[in-house]
Amino acid sequence: MKRLFKNIKGLLQTLGPETLFLKGSKMGELAQINDAFLYVEADTILAYGPMADCPTMEVDQVIDAKGRFVLPTWCDSHTHTVFAATREKEFEMRIAGKTYQEIAAAGGGILNSAKHLQNTSFDLLYQSAYERVHDMMRLGTGALEIKSGYGLNLEAEIKMLRVIEKLKKEIDIPIQSTFLAAHALPEAFKTDSEGFVRQVCQEWIPTVAGQKLATFLDVFCEKNYFTVAQTEQMVHTGQSFGLQAKLHVNQFNALGGVAMAVANNAVTVDHLEQLTPADLEALATGNTMAVALPNCSFFLGLPYTPARELLASEIPLALASDYNPGSAPSGNMNLVVALACIKMKMTPEEAINAATINGAYAMGLSDKVGSVTVGKKANLILTKPLASYALLPYAFGENLIDSIFINGNKI
Ligand code: NIG
Ligand code: FE
Repeated sequence: MKRLFKNIKGLLQTLGPETLFLKGSKMGELAQINDAFLYVEADTILAYGPMADCPTMEVDQVIDAKGRFVLPTWCDSHTHTVFAATREKEFEMRIAGKTYQEIAAAGGGILNSAKHLQNTSFDLLYQSAYERVHDMMRLGTGALEIKSGYGLNLEAEIKMLRVIEKLKKEIDIPIQSTFLAAHALPEAFKTDSEGFVRQVCQEWIPTVAGQKLATFLDVFCEKNYFTVAQTEQMVHTGQSFGLQAKLHVNQFNALGGVAMAVANNAVTVDHLEQLTPADLEALATGNTMAVALPNCSFFLGLPYTPARELLASEIPLALASDYNPGSAPSGNMNLVVALACIKMKMTPEEAINAATINGAYAMGLSDKVGSVTVGKKANLILTKPLASYALLPYAFGENLIDSIFINGNKI
């Protein structure tokens, strides 16, 4: 199938193949061509440029994009899309005044999700996650990372990772799998966190890596969850088995996990609702990308990740949904981009960069998706007619997307 998009009002995120991510002040610029064409063959972008240079050629379909913008689909680098049950009871408890941590301490939270997941069949988990991913795709997500972490025993963790493995096979967008080995302390190890970490390092990580079920390793480094030293121990073990680190750090407390992550060349540090000057300094000197999750801040009423400080320190920043039943029950990346602008004071250009090319980098996919680049996947958002692309974050909660193309095909 040969497709030509013509008369595109603005073709956004037109980057050369050498740009794998953008950082700091560079994120303020959004590469774009006004009055553009885009040529797609099968699932791949083959050419683009100003309409004046549009070649005359035989194609199967012409899409007149007059008045509309075309941009790469969102790259959501941090999600917990496989889960067994929603947690609206806890939502109501929080409305009544309980905090997320109080609910977790009383056996709710991650332990609650794990209990449900352990008792849910592979098929049911697969079916519900399959539907969630398709809902996300209809909202413009065209690449995705999914974590395990609600198993809390090896058997259930492997069940989750096998669900992700099947989603990767059956769904037409790139999906990366992360082994969230240490998400919370299982009931059985309540008074023996060291024993649990030993089991993760000696048994869980070798088993999961041996079955090639994940690309990345994640740990929830947080007070009442896992210490910096324990996290580092698991990161080292993961690396020795070829799993790169993507870590939950600084959601509620800044414990020093950021500097540890940077020192160990973690791919990303995610959350960062709390951020100290030492954290900023560590990130500014390393190769680790910061990932902000504004849907989580919005839903739990937490501080937002200080984007302006990160960008002023020339640090690369990605945006992701954190889609999960406890702290962010929405996989809508349009809302993420809007909140980044409204609450984190990112410009529309910065937010779009953070949710496309940087999101792709944050899950090791920026050679395939995240920009309009010759040779990359034709995973594209076609907007409704818009005066400006700034309307995307401005008109929060509105649907300004006309259609989504995945591998060149309209879904
Ligand atoms: O990213 N913080 C740790 N994990 C998830 C929430 C887990 C849950 O509450 O189910 C997060 O916010
Ligand atoms: Fe998360």
